[in-house]
Amino acid sequence: MSKALDGIRILDFTHVQSGPTCTQLLAWLGADVIKVERPGVGDATRKQLVDVEGVDSLYFTMLNHNKRSLTLNSKHETGKQVLERLVKKCDVLVENFAPGALDRMGFGWDRIQELNPRMIMASVKGFGPGPYEDCKVYENVAQCAGGSASTTGFHDGLPMVTGAQIGDSGTGLGLALGITAALLQREKTGRGQRVLAPMQDSVLNLCRVKLRDQQRLAHGPLTEYSQHGEGVEFGEATPRAGNDSGGGQPGRILKCIGWERDPNSYTYFITQAAAWPKICEVIGKPEWKDNPDYATPPARLPRLNEVFDEIEKWTLTKTKYEVMDICNPLDIPVGPILSMKELADEPSLRETGTIVEVDHPERGKYLTVGCPIKLSDSKVEVTRSPLLGEHTDEILADVLEYSADEIAEIRESGAI
Ligand code: COA
Repeated sequence: MSKALDGIRILDFTHVQSGPTCTQLLAWLGADVIKVERPGVGDATRKQLVDVEGVDSLYFTMLNHNKRSLTLNSKHETGKQVLERLVKKCDVLVENFAPGALDRMGFGWDRIQELNPRMIMASVKGFGPGPYEDCKVYENVAQCAGGSASTTGFHDGLPMVTGAQIGDSGTGLGLALGITAALLQREKTGRGQRVLAPMQDSVLNLCRVKLRDQQRLAHGPLTEYSQHGEGVEFGEATPRAGNDSGGGQPGRILKCIGWERDPNSYTYFITQAAAWPKICEVIGKPEWKDNPDYATPPARLPRLNEVFDEIEKWTLTKTKYEVMDICNPLDIPVGPILSMKELADEPSLRETGTIVEVDHPERGKYLTVGCPIKLSDSKVEVTRSPLLGEHTDEILADVLEYSADEIAEIRESGAI
């Protein structure tokens, strides 16, 4: 079976998480991704959070599947010549170096265009143009600067970062979309272009409901926020909303059987307006269906604590899976709080390739996430991450068409 991005060659100058997420997605969709790494060093994540001594970390392996690794010192004279040849042979250059690093290497946008006018040059940076454009940025900085931390957590607690890597992996996903769009446009124009995905912008984009609420605040309190029912006044900015849902249907995380022993024995429960009569029946409060204090969403808003306390009395008599089994047939939206252990063991996620077991020559078998986007005509097969420089000779010979003698000379020079 062919793959969506068959024939597209990516010069992958990415490291850590945001850029590698993007190029891994492109590799899963069929692109030939050549990861360029510093000789003897490689991507810093190879040696971060090491769980098995002497072996590439899971941090690295889980971000670099389906790629080939080429070691190259891009600051070495011979290395620069090899890199020029690579630029001419590739369709896309993806990088997430600190601002200015590529220019310092001598491969800024002007030079890239000179070498290959069809080249798409895609970058992740912490910030877009503006006062902070020169800053180095990691995940949590982006979550803080993009509005996620100020709106996550409880209103009387600290700002919180989320476990989902929205700054890194979220930005990488957006960059991959920008690259595929640029590839499509190149079909018509014949020209490459620059694609930029700043992490702050990506996080803010994912926080749009909080920017929505910022503007609603000018017209009165946010009545669906729990703090409204608790009589806590709103300040100038969108507050942290705990586990309130971000939409118009109030929701909460509620305890289930065993919550005292199991930190994930909880369910998310949404009091969707359309399901209200069924919710009243299920929790044993049929009288709420017609009681004007509870019958409509606006009437319930000041009483959300009482409403959810009653619902929790019911969920406390069930496991999170029983809540799901009872509510789903009634179209009452609920979701069990699933642990990483439960997700890793879930057979349906293995069947769809969302969680995959991969075999690695040095570490053996391990689990990783597979492609979250499913194409019916472009099947994803997740293959292991490359060892450092594993494909250097192969790429120099097959892609760059160096002879064996030339490769030996390049090696002699210390550039690879
Ligand atoms: N050969 C020679 N030199 C290489 C090289 C190679 N193959 N690959 C990288 N280098 C050099 C770079 O040119 C740079 O040199 P310079 O500082 O002299 O210009 C140097 O290695 C380090 O690059 P840098 O990007 O500054 O790494 P860092 O570890 O100091 O910073 C980040 C890491 C992630 C903070 C930074 O890259 C960054 O802010 N990136 C953009 C935002 C981003 O993607 N953040 C999320 C990361 S998950």
